[in-house]
Amino acid sequence: MAKHYSALGLASSPFANAIGVAHDNAPVQPVTLVRPHAARRAARFFVEKFPGTSMYAVKANPSPDLLQILWDSGITHYDVASIGEVRLVARTLPEATLCFMHPVKAEEAIAEAYFTHGVRTFSLDTMEELDKIVRATKAAEDLTLCVRIRVSSELSKLSLASKFGAGPGETKELLFAARQASDALGICFHVGSQAMSPDAYAQAMERVRLAIVEAAVTVDVIDVGGGFPSSYPGMEPPPLERYFDVIHRAFEALPISYSAELWAEPGRALCAEYSSLIVRVEQRRGDELYINDGAYGALFDAAHVGWRFPVELLRQPESRAKDMAFSFYGPTCDDMDHMAGPFMLPADVKAGDYIEVGMLGAYGCAMRTAFNGFGVDAVVEVSDMPMATLYDDVDEDAGRSNVVRLGARG
Ligand SMILES: Cc1ncc(COP(=O)(O)O)c(C=O)c1O
Repeated sequence: MAKHYSALGLASSPFANAIGVAHDNAPVQPVTLVRPHAARRAARFFVEKFPGTSMYAVKANPSPDLLQILWDSGITHYDVASIGEVRLVARTLPEATLCFMHPVKAEEAIAEAYFTHGVRTFSLDTMEELDKIVRATKAAEDLTLCVRIRVSSELSKLSLASKFGAGPGETKELLFAARQASDALGICFHVGSQAMSPDAYAQAMERVRLAIVEAAVTVDVIDVGGGFPSSYPGMEPPPLERYFDVIHRAFEALPISYSAELWAEPGRALCAEYSSLIVRVEQRRGDELYINDGAYGALFDAAHVGWRFPVELLRQPESRAKDMAFSFYGPTCDDMDHMAGPFMLPADVKAGDYIEVGMLGAYGCAMRTAFNGFGVDAVVEVSDMPMATLYDDVDEDAGRSNVVRLGARG
């Protein structure tokens, strides 16, 4: 993989030739930038500060390079949701512990995960799924079964409250049955992605407490799922330590055995800062910029759920124009390839300019399709800082020692 110091340098330098993406010294297709140091810093933060085991939710970004970085930084457990993810992680990190946390799985996938890849932890939210797991594993006696309960998503930006999770009337029977079929019994939930308040976890843990009391079963694992936020325009969450404190206090107060384990499944928080994208403006019409990536590329969330990502004009000398609000059109022929934003950029942005779109490491680069023949030509490692961070005051030296400061960002 090619390496460079910063997005700004890459968009304008002869270096572009070296990565083979340009005829005129600048990238013609979008370029994905990766920041291994940012992923390392996030992983170390969770490993050191989360009061339990952090397993990475692979769906957020399945890049094998990223998986290796997280492993090297101490993340040993991986939340996988499909047989494809099971195979990928088993191949990339043969020593890793895999937990199959999708509540609705193909029976063949469960069997392959158990017998071929050594997976022992599975989640479920119905009796049917429990029966399926028991059948597929031939009534194995070494299973950790996590019953997913339904909790509110009201404090999160993306709901995960409708599709999965046993409701209050269903958990007693399910916990009881799962207890009989398992070596270790867990309870898991997901508060929704980008939880903007630690209270989301306090409320969910209260649901867990009620479920345990009602079912009167011994619980060995409490898995608080994902939902840990990252920082985006208009979405600046409290420090992650506050989330960890709330979770720790609630966990300590649960009626569970003293040896019970606490797990989490962070996706977004571990990888959002890992990637960004350089796009080119191909045309400007008023406050609409036609750029070369969009809804079918890394900007799915910007188009479909109105997510606002940070943007920066990569121009030197810097524009002196005031910022104004723009929206983007992506490169395909489809009207839906539209990102409303608003994206704040200098008012003199014009065709031919390059823009860095930041914080695309989670559910950004992972969503890319090849629709209409558009895609990226290059992935380049950079060592400047991500456009936003939740790990700013953490481990200063480790994050910045190799950073070459160019332009406004450090
Ligand atoms: C079961 C499960 N765990 C973890 C995650 C990761 O969530 P997040 O990226 O919000 O941390 C997801 C996301 O959809 C999920 O479905």
